[in-house]
Amino acid sequence: MNLLEIRDLRVSYRINGEDLPAVRGVDLDVQAGETVGIAGESGCGKSTLAGAVLRLLPNGTRVTGQVRLAGEDVLSMSWGRLRAVRWNTASIVFQAAMHGLNPVRRIGQQIAEPILVHEPAAGTRRAAARAAELLEQVGVPAWRVRSYPHELSGGQRQRVMIAMALACDPQLIVADEPTTALDVMVQAQVLNLLRDLVRERGVGLLMISHDLSVLADLCDRVAVMYAGRVVEQGPGGRLFTDATHPYARALAAAFPVIGDPASRMAPRGLPGDPPDPRELPSGCPFHPRCPDAVVVCGETDVRLREAGPDRTAACVHVGVTQEREGIR
Ligand SMILES: Nc1ncnc2c1ncn2[C@@H]1O[C@H](COP(=O)(O)OP(=O)(O)O)[C@@H](O)[C@H]1O
Ligand SMILES: [Mg+2]
Repeated sequence: MNLLEIRDLRVSYRINGEDLPAVRGVDLDVQAGETVGIAGESGCGKSTLAGAVLRLLPNGTRVTGQVRLAGEDVLSMSWGRLRAVRWNTASIVFQAAMHGLNPVRRIGQQIAEPILVHEPAAGTRRAAARAAELLEQVGVPAWRVRSYPHELSGGQRQRVMIAMALACDPQLIVADEPTTALDVMVQAQVLNLLRDLVRERGVGLLMISHDLSVLADLCDRVAVMYAGRVVEQGPGGRLFTDATHPYARALAAAFPVIGDPASRMAPRGLPGDPPDPRELPSGCPFHPRCPDAVVVCGETDVRLREAGPDRTAACVHVGVTQEREGIR
């Protein structure tokens, strides 16, 4: 069974009476012990997707489709059940950790809070001891339980957020750019920590990052999003070296790979901007920026299709030859 199963997820924000479609029909699965990455330019809907997993989206946001978490339908769940599932079955580590912590409460109290909500029988002392233990696990000295958020470095605060996310032993962790604000050394520590959790505890990890090298390194599978949809999905280690969708290829080419002589040349930027979700181009939403666009791309909105072993892509150029030659 999939730990997380997302089907035809659509999310629209409502702004000044206007609908802004941020996620437009995403299918995605994460299994226990699996790391699935999401890549894509800013604004393509990554954080919206993350928020939908635990219904952490602003009031008035329209969400349709299916989100099943450990077999339970999140979108139709009662509030009581949802509160029980948050932290416990799944937890989210957001980017910008400072905003996720209460500035006037000690670190230890904040980590103990989800434990006490879910396990009142644990009692304050046991919850506090567990908070200290969790801090050490994420590489922050246990005495920091007495500190306030402003007394910690950015890296330590991010690790505190991860400690909170682990507090109730969740089966799924959604990490939304968890290392973006960190310097490279701390980033490596946090990534190793996440990797260990997946390996040792069989946690499922949905990892959102704009850093393709992080995704290639950490993920079993990666989905590339563009304008609220997945445009290519494939094995993490290889997705960016042999991407098939022109957008995934452009994204990979725009990213320098340290140590790779081929990328010693300046990385190639992607011309143009992502489209305004309220005024999406006709046909394939990437076609105005696409180097391979042909007339039909402005007319036909292609959905994901098979693009090789373990790989799907949404592009008219993909899979066509195989179909013509009757290979599939
Ligand atoms: N709370 C919100 N209210 C209205 N629009 C939003 C909100 N959050 C995100 N958006 C819009 O939804 C789209 C997707 O945003 P987001 O999911 O944050 O993308 P990403 O995480 O990939 O940068 C963007 O156009 C963004 O401006
Ligand atoms: Mg985001």
